[in-house]
Amino acid sequence: MSRVAYVNGRFARHDEAGVHIEDRGYQFGDAIYEVWAVADGRLCDAEGHFARLSRSLAELRIAEPMSRKSLEIVLGETLRRNRLADGLLYLQVSRGVARRDHPFPDPAPPPSVVITARRIDPAAGDAKAAKGVAVITVPENRWGRCDIKTVNLLPNVLAKQAAKDAGAYEAWFVDELGFVTEGSSTNAWIVDREGVLRTRDIQANILRGVTRATVLRVAAEAGVKLAEGPFTVDDAKQAREAFITGASTQVTPVVKLDGRLLAGGEPGPVAKRLRQLYIAEARRG
Ligand SMILES: Cc1ncc(COP(=O)(O)O)c(C=O)c1O
Repeated sequence: MSRVAYVNGRFARHDEAGVHIEDRGYQFGDAIYEVWAVADGRLCDAEGHFARLSRSLAELRIAEPMSRKSLEIVLGETLRRNRLADGLLYLQVSRGVARRDHPFPDPAPPPSVVITARRIDPAAGDAKAAKGVAVITVPENRWGRCDIKTVNLLPNVLAKQAAKDAGAYEAWFVDELGFVTEGSSTNAWIVDREGVLRTRDIQANILRGVTRATVLRVAAEAGVKLAEGPFTVDDAKQAREAFITGASTQVTPVVKLDGRLLAGGEPGPVAKRLRQLYIAEARRG
């Protein structure tokens, strides 16, 4: 069965779907995106992703392209047409198509909306989490509004490629004070030497991960000691455990950092437990 994409009100074959060459997402990166994991045909952590979508649009002053109800229908229809039970739904909204000029077009064109669906075998994620992944560190070189989920991901792309070139899965950005901000497509966590779960606070220049928020909640409910705030690369190297979170990675243990084994190179108990708790909670949501 061929894949189907939604583009500006129509469903089209994925390999033939396209947007206009003067789409501002293509010309300027003037666009935002959102990603939902799908499990058993249902959106995971649905509310958090809808809320962040609205926030990203508002921050860039792009109009909501359709009502929440219509969007849910279109997302559901995209799943149905792709017969997708497990995978990812990707939504991108740009400021629309206009003659190339930096200021916002006036009057505003209708925002462009693209939705794609991709099948992912849940067993592959579980296998990766069971083994744990390697992470490298790279200097933070992104703009100051990483809280907005824009498609401007060039530093993230280069960081992820650096990780791949080094035989690792993810790259953690490290700011000029030596603190880890987040991964190129995930949030970064450690369980420090005192057993405190740490992840960077959202006052820092990071994406407010929806998975991050849910993991914080389930960890608090499970009685895990928490501290949202900065930690250094050295703190991470000496940590009891480390892991990453994101809609597609869920909770995935980190077992190597910059070539050095963490916690004996095995996924730790806190990460394993939080992965289970997170998956159960996200499916409920
Ligand atoms: C830079 C960055 N940080 C964190 C995340 C994790 O966010 P979420 O848990 O909402 O998927 C992502 C996801 O794409 C990301 O791109």
